[in-house]
Amino acid sequence: MTVSKPLAVLSVASEAVPLVKTGGLSDVAGALPAAVAPHGVAMTTLLPGYPAVMRSLGKARVLHKYDALLGTPARLLAAKLGDHPLIVLDAPVLFDRDGGPYGDDAGRDWGDNWRRFAALGRAGADLACGAVKGRKFDVLHAHDWQAAMAPAYVRFAPPAGKPGVPSVMTIHNMAFQGYFSADVFPVLGLPTEAFAIDGVEYHGGVGFLKAGMDSASAITTVSPSYAVEIRDPAFGMGLEGLIVSRGERVSGIVNGIDTAQWNPATDRDIAMRFTARTLDKRVVNKRALEAEFGLEIDDGPLFIVVSRLTWQKGMDVLAGAIAHLVGNGARLALLGSGDAALEAAFVAAAARHPGRIGVRIGYDEALSHRMQAGGDAILVPSRFEPCGLTQLYALAYGCVPVVAHTGGLADTVIDANIAAIDAGVATGLQFAGVTPAAVAQAISRAIALYRQPDVWRMVQRNGMKADFSWAQSGRAYADLYRKLAGRTS
Ligand code: ADP
Ligand code: GLC
Repeated sequence: MTVSKPLAVLSVASEAVPLVKTGGLSDVAGALPAAVAPHGVAMTTLLPGYPAVMRSLGKARVLHKYDALLGTPARLLAAKLGDHPLIVLDAPVLFDRDGGPYGDDAGRDWGDNWRRFAALGRAGADLACGAVKGRKFDVLHAHDWQAAMAPAYVRFAPPAGKPGVPSVMTIHNMAFQGYFSADVFPVLGLPTEAFAIDGVEYHGGVGFLKAGMDSASAITTVSPSYAVEIRDPAFGMGLEGLIVSRGERVSGIVNGIDTAQWNPATDRDIAMRFTARTLDKRVVNKRALEAEFGLEIDDGPLFIVVSRLTWQKGMDVLAGAIAHLVGNGARLALLGSGDAALEAAFVAAAARHPGRIGVRIGYDEALSHRMQAGGDAILVPSRFEPCGLTQLYALAYGCVPVVAHTGGLADTVIDANIAAIDAGVATGLQFAGVTPAAVAQAISRAIALYRQPDVWRMVQRNGMKADFSWAQSGRAYADLYRKLAGRTS
């Protein structure tokens, strides 16, 4: 019997749980190594050495030293991300600073982001192609614009004497493209011919995501619906033409959730653990949540929101539907941070409706678990949503998702229309069009459904029983890597 060698894949990302997180990309990059491992893939992750990452390292082995990587000294350090190999790009000039991964505490992007993430891409390309002793990869997997220069370097400037490797470019969000002025091009270390329409040039400047999409062997997005939507200018944000021209090389693989982290039967962050069979226990979490948010205690519906407070997430529209929510006897607990104006709008709404609207501005992972465990329904009125994870966590926790019909939300929630209720398959509510009227109507539908306890319970249970683990999507990524590497089994 021959045992085939695992396929070695280098995943390049700008955030990954548990080390650094600003959104769903981190959940996905953190979960991917374990998701693909059962399918014969040995994944190593490359992350920037932000202070939080460096602090977590302990003793790390130096794999490689650069005298000048994009002009600054840097090292590649070998470490662990959970049970899986991690390589950290330690470049203090670029990454050792207070603030977030992409900007300062005031929310301004770092002015040298082009250099920071070009360096990440350059290091990723060197590693993937085998220029670092002891490491060689069969496939390179780049996530979002921050990693997108890796496939471009492999294509236009592979390390001397090394062959290229096939690559996957995953788009988690087309709205963030990494677009910089043409002035940065000479510093990138690419040959002149790379500054072309078929290359890194984009509207006269340098487009990192565009370069990655143009250079990668395959493009994926994080849901099948979003893969179709981004062919349209409304969602493609200027890159729809490139998506269309790359044709069959574009596919959608829906995100899974890490069921070790997100399981109401074992969750250590919640007041009372429960399963689909012990849904009655959930009320303990609801009471705890009401107390935590200073809400009146009652058995009416408690909506939650856990979200970046941004235009993408439709939070301005939700703010406009709050009077309707309160007027219909519901309450809302909201956790989020983002646009200052939206933060202020929700804080003001809480002041206007004491005991009915509770708001926490900030980022709190444990609280997000308590909210999914105690809320009756989560509101996700996104204008676009490549996949969305909060609705998946909600499904797993018996918190009924009320979502806009777009992207991954459309792919993962089954609307409780009459046919779906009769067939016993409904898992949530969908609404079309992100307008205050549509959101208000969806809230009314949810409240009406909540008042039919048997149907509500069925919807909760259906969601909890649905499989959003990584099992299928882990296999889909593994199959794609294998196809690109020319391996059939
Ligand atoms: P996106 O990545 O576009 O923000 P996702 O739904 O894919 O949307 O992922 C968001 C992730 O961030 C989820 O894990 C969600 O629970 C988490 N999250 C968002 N805002 C907060 C917050 N204020 N506190 C804690 N977790 C949050
Ligand atoms: C992005 C998208 C979100 C997706 C996440 C992980 O942040 O906005 O929809 O779930 O990436 O893929």
